[in-house]
Amino acid sequence: MNMPSSGDPTNTLVLGIETSCDETAAAVVDGGGRVRSSVVATQHELHAEYGGVVPEIASRAHLEHLLPVIRRAVREAGVTLSDLDAIAVGHRPGLIGALLVGTSGAKGLALALDIPLVGVDHVHAHLVAGLLESSPLEFPCLGLVVSGGHSSLYLVHDPISPILLGRTIDDAIGEAFDKVAAMLGLGHPGGPEVERLAASGDENAFDFPVANLGRDRIDFSFSGLKTAVLYATKGHPGRTPPTLDERRRADLAASFQSAAIKAVRRNLRRAFDQHPEVSGLLVGGGVSANQAVRAMLQTEAAARSIDLRLPPLEWCVDNGAMIAGLGVRRLAAGETDGLDLAPAATSRSSILPS
Ligand code: KG4
Ligand code: ZN
Repeated sequence: MNMPSSGDPTNTLVLGIETSCDETAAAVVDGGGRVRSSVVATQHELHAEYGGVVPEIASRAHLEHLLPVIRRAVREAGVTLSDLDAIAVGHRPGLIGALLVGTSGAKGLALALDIPLVGVDHVHAHLVAGLLESSPLEFPCLGLVVSGGHSSLYLVHDPISPILLGRTIDDAIGEAFDKVAAMLGLGHPGGPEVERLAASGDENAFDFPVANLGRDRIDFSFSGLKTAVLYATKGHPGRTPPTLDERRRADLAASFQSAAIKAVRRNLRRAFDQHPEVSGLLVGGGVSANQAVRAMLQTEAAARSIDLRLPPLEWCVDNGAMIAGLGVRRLAAGETDGLDLAPAATSRSSILPS
């Protein structure tokens, strides 16, 4: 393995590669958690006309973007490929064809440069976004990932291996935002559009359900909420559909957003009640870019004197810096992977024994 020339571990440079869904991203992060560069090429416009991510189109776009994005990330970090100490890649979970592009590219680079390859779990990497460029956080803490594919709460002793406390049993919260956006005739990705429309609506106009899966359970469910919004938008089968004017659309967006946030708040409170030993909260995932979500988290954290780590907006959504950030931690722990590292569609999380 290349060792950083000064021997100082904070000078270690890790390139992070992210291709799990519809962003091709690369970033260089150093051993001290400083982000030297972060480049993201989104494919939103390619998928917009389909109202969601089309896996085959995503894979082809990753193929086109990957090398230019990596070259730019290395250039903007002010280094060359030969200065890198390791290649980290998000190899699970995600769209398998998309992951194959990033994983193959990462293996090729690691082999050619003769440096270690570090496979990173994309969902766990979202938790590390809040630790980039910031002071150390005391562990254990709670971790919350709210994204297009995941709604999960973790107990985090070490971001390398967070313990899953609860997750969605059906749709992810971001998926619900995207589906509701489609119902309301908004563009893709739907989360930011719903947030914009919700700003002019009344969150109390509709009393949408907040799933409760059991008094002590901290799992999520968003499919009932999604169906309730569908009926309020399109009408119940056999009945005259309501008129979907601007006012009603805004009220639907605001009431949906409020119910979705209440679901997150309830499970977060349960997790804090069940784990009084934690004093911090790591948050990540695209939905944590939502201002109403951020305001709720700030209120909850302040009420419990919790050290809240909310990433800046650009690191809430998919990016390479979080992949490199977790890669730095795995590398420092001596964890690297062989060239047989396999992409996988699902996450692998350990679950707290009950
Ligand atoms: O973390 P991310 O970029 O990709 C996944 O790992 O899934 O999250 C994307 C999700 C999409 O569902 C998108 O609609 C949602 O995050 N999102 C938002 C906002 N910005 C992105 N949802 C609500 N409000 C936002 N401002
Ligand atoms: Zn993500």
